Amino acid sequence: MSFYRADDDSLDPALRPQTFDDYTGQSGVKERLRVAVRAARMRGDNLDHVLMSGPPGLGKTTMAHIIAAELGVNLHSTSGPAIDKKGELAALLTQVTEGDVLFIDEIHRLSASVEENLYPAMEDFQLDIFLGEGPHARNIKLSLPRFTLVGATTRTGLLTAPLRARFGILERLEYYEAEQLSAIILRSAGLLGITVADDAAHEMARRSRGTPRTANRLLRRVRDYMQVEGCEIVDIELARHAMKQLDIDDRGFDRMDRSYIESLVHKFDGGPVGVETLAAALGESSHTLEDVYEPYLLQEGFIQRTPRGRVATATALRYVGADPGRSAGILPLFDEEDERP
Ligand SMILES: Nc1ncnc2c1ncn2[C@@H]1O[C@H](COP(=O)(O)OP(=O)(O)OP(=O)(O)O)[C@@H](O)[C@H]1O
Ligand SMILES: [Mg+2]
Repeated sequence: MSFYRADDDSLDPALRPQTFDDYTGQSGVKERLRVAVRAARMRGDNLDHVLMSGPPGLGKTTMAHIIAAELGVNLHSTSGPAIDKKGELAALLTQVTEGDVLFIDEIHRLSASVEENLYPAMEDFQLDIFLGEGPHARNIKLSLPRFTLVGATTRTGLLTAPLRARFGILERLEYYEAEQLSAIILRSAGLLGITVADDAAHEMARRSRGTPRTANRLLRRVRDYMQVEGCEIVDIELARHAMKQLDIDDRGFDRMDRSYIESLVHKFDGGPVGVETLAAALGESSHTLEDVYEPYLLQEGFIQRTPRGRVATATALRYVGADPGRSAGILPLFDEEDERP
C-alpha cells in the first residue's frame, strides 16, 4: 500500500478544517466560494452546484463539508460508484431538504443512466421515477427541494460535457506551496498536542508532494518516532531520521515514485510508453498511476504525457543518474497534449 492513498484520513477527522478561515491556502478558490455562499445566504436561495477537481488529498471533500457548514445546511454524502441504480439516486434525493448539500465524490464514476437522471434534478429540481414494469409501467415526476450538488473528481477530463455544463461553479485545487503545508503541519501538530519545531515542519512540508493529506500522514508517522525515541518535541534531526526510515527522499518521492521513474528511464528507454504497460511493469493499477502518481510527476517536470505514451524528461534522467542529453532528441517530436483530455 502506498504512502499517499486515501486510506487513513478517517483516523483523524479532528484535523479536517471546519470553516473557510481554518482552510489553509487555495485562496482564490476559497474567496470565490466565500462570496458565492454569502450571496446565496443573503438571497435565501440554494447555492449553485459546485464541481471541485484536483489530485487526491488536496482538500476537495474537506471543502464540500465547509461549504455545507458555512451555508448552515446538512450534508448528504455519497460517491459515484455507490449509486449504481436510479432508485438509489431517488432514495438519496428524497432525503434532501431545502438548501442542503448533496456531496457526490468521484462523480466521474457515475453510471450513464444515473447521470442522465441527475440532469433534470440539477437543472429543474425534478426527478423522473419509473414505477412498475412492462405495459403497466408509469413515469411520474417528483419535485425536489432546491438543493446544491457538490461534486468532486480527480479527473475532470472524464466528466461528460452535459454533466459538467450543469455546474454553476467549477473550481480546481492546485498543489500547495511548502509554506502552506508547513502551516498545515503546525496546525495539525497543535490539534494532536505535539510540538514541532518550525524548521522540522518546513522539512516535512517540503517532502509532502504539495499535498495536505501527505503532510498530515507524515506528521503522524514522525509522531510515532517521537514517541518511540522518547523525544519531547519533533526537531529537524528527528524529522529527517523518520523520513529516512520511511524511505521518503529529498524530493518527497517514495519507493513507488522512484520505481516509476526508474522503470520509465531504464526499462522503457525513457519512453514513450503506454500507461497500461507501465502499470503492468510496476504491479500497480493504471488508475492509481494516473490519479495519484503522475499528476505530481507531471507538475514537477519529471514526465510528459504525449499521444504515444509517457516520456521521461531531462530532469527524470538526471534524477536516476542517466545522461540527460538522451531526452533531447525525443521530446520535441511530440506535443504536450494529454493522452486523455
Ligand atoms: N486546506 C487545507 N488545510 C488544512 N488541512 C487540509 C486542507 N486540505 C486538506 N486538508 C487535510 O488533508 C486531508 C485530505 O483532504 P480531503 O480528504 O479533503 O482531500 P480530497 O481532495 O477529498 O482527496 P481525495 O481525492 O482522495 O478524495 C483532510 O483530512 C484534511 O485534514
Ligand atoms: Mg475526497
